[in-house]
Amino acid sequence: MQRQVVHRYCDVNGRQNAVTVIRRKQIKLGELFTEVGDRDLVREILSYVCDISLGQVFLLQEIDNKVAKQVICVANEVKNGVPLAYAVGKTWFFGLPFVVNEHVLVPRNDTETLIETVLSWCRGIWEDKKNKGSIRILDMCTGSGCIAVAVKKNFDEMNIRSRVVAIDISEKALDVARKNAKLNEVDVEFIQSDLFKNVLSIVGGDKFDVIVSNPPYVRTGDIGVADKTVLKEPWIALDGGEDGLEFYRRIISEAVDYLVDGGGLFVEVGFDQGFDVAGLFVKHGYSNISVRKDMENRDRVVYGKFAAKPKEGSI
Ligand SMILES: C[S@@+](CC[C@H](N)C(=O)[O-])C[C@H]1O[C@@H](n2cnc3c(N)ncnc32)[C@H](O)[C@@H]1O
Repeated sequence: MQRQVVHRYCDVNGRQNAVTVIRRKQIKLGELFTEVGDRDLVREILSYVCDISLGQVFLLQEIDNKVAKQVICVANEVKNGVPLAYAVGKTWFFGLPFVVNEHVLVPRNDTETLIETVLSWCRGIWEDKKNKGSIRILDMCTGSGCIAVAVKKNFDEMNIRSRVVAIDISEKALDVARKNAKLNEVDVEFIQSDLFKNVLSIVGGDKFDVIVSNPPYVRTGDIGVADKTVLKEPWIALDGGEDGLEFYRRIISEAVDYLVDGGGLFVEVGFDQGFDVAGLFVKHGYSNISVRKDMENRDRVVYGKFAAKPKEGSI
């Protein structure tokens, strides 16, 4: 009979949890399932900890005891409400790896709709641009850098020349974003700024073909109501003000000074914000305004084209 011993592991709050594992070099996956009590969670954690796909996890039968201890530690954190991505320190977005920590929002699948919309627009303008230069993109409120990095990576793979600039107010978020650009081997310029405040002084007067943003858009009173784990994420990454629209008002009105004539502004929105945000695009003179739905058929992206007003006196 196997000798069972009790090991102690700390949870996120430093408390010690008693857990039982079998003291052997290799243990059977079934024993770990019993220990954690959630097969899907164990499998998901294993795929991160061992850096293998979920498919490969299904082929595992025995695992190293050290790995088992790591899985138990992470599972305890998740059970205490820590998002899995924070507990393992990484996640996947748009098929690319990203490091994350408590200073950045965990990239959401919903945001992939925003990337697809931007890439498809850019493929359209590249025909016209390719003999003249590169596509200039600004990612406002970059957080982990997931949008800037994914767009730049795709441009590089499609041989589309581009300059990608990414902004966040949080230096700690920018540290994470820089790591992600390095990890994915892309060249992105990062700037600390309260929205557009430092853009002119750092980037100069050159305007952008595209401005993209997934800003904070949760109504203050709704934060953490439907899902308590978001309370572990940075408040400034979530809080969109009383009606959730504060950042859209600023970005949509100020972006017109930074877009080329015919440039596109693309923003992610909450499922019930499409109409109001499209109204802000109308108010500020954008044209070709569209609302795009996500995979679950909810409003997710609003975009529009900026047309510079003809100068007075010109015909
Ligand atoms: C919703 S998160 C989006 C992060 C990332 N773009 C994504 O899609 O996962 C919003 C980001 O906006 C940043 N932010 C908040 N207020 C800002 C401001 N005034 N200027 C620039 N960035 C700001 C936060 O630090 C946070 O990283």
